[in-house]
Amino acid sequence: MAANNKSIVIGSDHGAVELKTRIKTYLEKKGYTVDDLGTHGTDSVDYPDSSRDVCEAFLTGKYDCGVVLCGTGIGVSIAANKIKGIRCALIHDPFTAEMAKAHNNANIIALGGRVEYAHPVESILDAYLAADFEGGRHSRRIGKITDLEGRR
Ligand code: RB5
Repeated sequence: MAANNKSIVIGSDHGAVELKTRIKTYLEKKGYTVDDLGTHGTDSVDYPDSSRDVCEAFLTGKYDCGVVLCGTGIGVSIAANKIKGIRCALIHDPFTAEMAKAHNNANIIALGGRVEYAHPVESILDAYLAADFEGGRHSRRIGKITDLEGRR
C-alpha cells in the first residue's frame, strides 16, 4: 500500500516486543510510516525509559501519534502522562480507542503485550486512527487537563 503521509512512533519494554512488531507490521501495511524506537530483544529494560523516548519523539512534531507498550500498558501510560503535552490513553477495545481520540484527543495510546484483548489489536488501532477529535465541550475539558500539568 502507498504511504499515507502519516507517521507513528512506537516503543515498548521487553514485555511487548512481539506485540510491537505485530502493530508495526500492520500499520506499515496500511501505509503508515512507523519508527520503532525499540526495545528489540528480550533483555529486561525499564518501561519509563521507553515511554519517555516515544513521548519525546512525538513532541518534536514529527509524528501524528505514538504507541507505547509494556506488559500491561499501565506503566508506560502512567509514565507518559507525567510529560507535559502528552495525553496518553490506556485503551482496551475499539470503543475506548475511539473515545480516546474523539473525547480526550489522546496523542499517545498504550497497550499491553501480556494482555488478552477481547478484540483483535488491529481493530483497536483502526478505531483510534479513524476517529476525529470532536472539539466543543471536549476542548474545554482538555484545557482543564492542561491546566493540571505541573500541579502538586
Ligand atoms: C515488566 O516486567 C512489567 O512490569 C512492565 O512491562 C509493565 O507491565 C509495567 O507496567
